[in-house]
Amino acid sequence: MDSSMRLELTRPVMALSRGSCLPEAPHGAHLNGCVPLSHQVAGHKYGIDKVGILQHPDGTVLKQLQPPPRGPREMHFYSMVCAEDSGDPCLVELRAHLPKYYGTMSSPDVPTELYLKLEDVTRCFSRPCIMDVKIGQRSYDPFASQEKREQQVRKYPLMEEIGFLVLGMRVYKVGSDSFDTYDQHYGRGLVKDTIKDGLSKFFYNGKILRKDAITASILKVQKILQWFEGQSRFHFYASSLLFVYEGICASSAASQTLQEPTTTPGACEQNNNIHQTVYSMHTRSCVKSHNKTNQDNGLWSSSQQPNGNCSLARLEENPKETRSQDGQDVEVKMIDFAHVFPSDVSDHGYIYGLKNLLEVLHQILEE
Ligand SMILES: Nc1ncnc2c1ncn2[C@@H]1O[C@H](COP(=O)(O)OP(=O)(O)OP(=O)(O)O)[C@@H](O)[C@H]1O
Ligand SMILES: [Mg+2]
Repeated sequence: MDSSMRLELTRPVMALSRGSCLPEAPHGAHLNGCVPLSHQVAGHKYGIDKVGILQHPDGTVLKQLQPPPRGPREMHFYSMVCAEDSGDPCLVELRAHLPKYYGTMSSPDVPTELYLKLEDVTRCFSRPCIMDVKIGQRSYDPFASQEKREQQVRKYPLMEEIGFLVLGMRVYKVGSDSFDTYDQHYGRGLVKDTIKDGLSKFFYNGKILRKDAITASILKVQKILQWFEGQSRFHFYASSLLFVYEGICASSAASQTLQEPTTTPGACEQNNNIHQTVYSMHTRSCVKSHNKTNQDNGLWSSSQQPNGNCSLARLEENPKETRSQDGQDVEVKMIDFAHVFPSDVSDHGYIYGLKNLLEVLHQILEE
């Protein structure tokens, strides 16, 4: 990325102050320092792929649009679901399961490069454990070429039978105050007999199985299932659920000597700065590394006129408060809508995947 890249604000944006979940006063100033999303667990990555996901200093993430038709399709989906004036109950209910959408951004230097500006689902967690699970019995859409279909089936032949695929995860280990990360090869290595144990690793913090996080996740997935059972307007292919839970829990906090309280104002910016161990079923590699916060001092500001219509004022919401009221430090959000299509029947493939995922989560809980 060009570190001298500069984008102009065309409309004041409520900027989130770093290290705080509360909004700053609105201003039209430049915002510095977009960096590759350091806690990304799957998908296209900056520096590796042509497009990727960035972290904006205001606490949002920027997802670069894929080339057409995928990128524009995802943008239109967010715009439609998050249209402020839409009172359509189906869309209003769905909106609650998506990251908040703040419109698009583009660079004056490269105006053709568009970014979706999204809520960072992990942003107010202190030690976010994150898992990306692709849902559905098919990873390819009805318009995919034969070659694409075969490629997708080859990648995970069990998709049809299992109905979901772990694309990546990072799991907090209380003993070492570090994260273990698992890449896409790990998930592809899971078969019917090992899927339960494979998935349960996401909830194991090195000392205990986080049954509280499993229970809360089940409740959230059930809500999403409810929405799917009531709609027959959309089909989702190769779309994911992003699971996030707080790595620091009451029992782990007692058994370690972490200095920070679990909800320090600085949590939003410090949640990536600790050691991690990387696992891949495929390579069985185990690499210790530091997860650097790549402080790019290049100037980035916003924005093209947000066109997604989710109110920017939503940045004012304080998700931490909402979570603590629930008593649950867990989020489950639907992401990745590059292959969503209109339909007039239920999305049986997605529903099958959700039900099987719920079944496996229940099995882990019963251990
Ligand atoms: N709103 C978000 N908040 C936090 N993390 C996110 C968010 N959106 C995406 N991510 C991170 O980025 C990863 C990839 O996201 P996504 O699936 O949208 O991109 P992708 O797979 O590269 O997209 P595509 O399939 O359209 O090419 C996720 O696994 C997650 O770690
Ligand atoms: Mg994805």
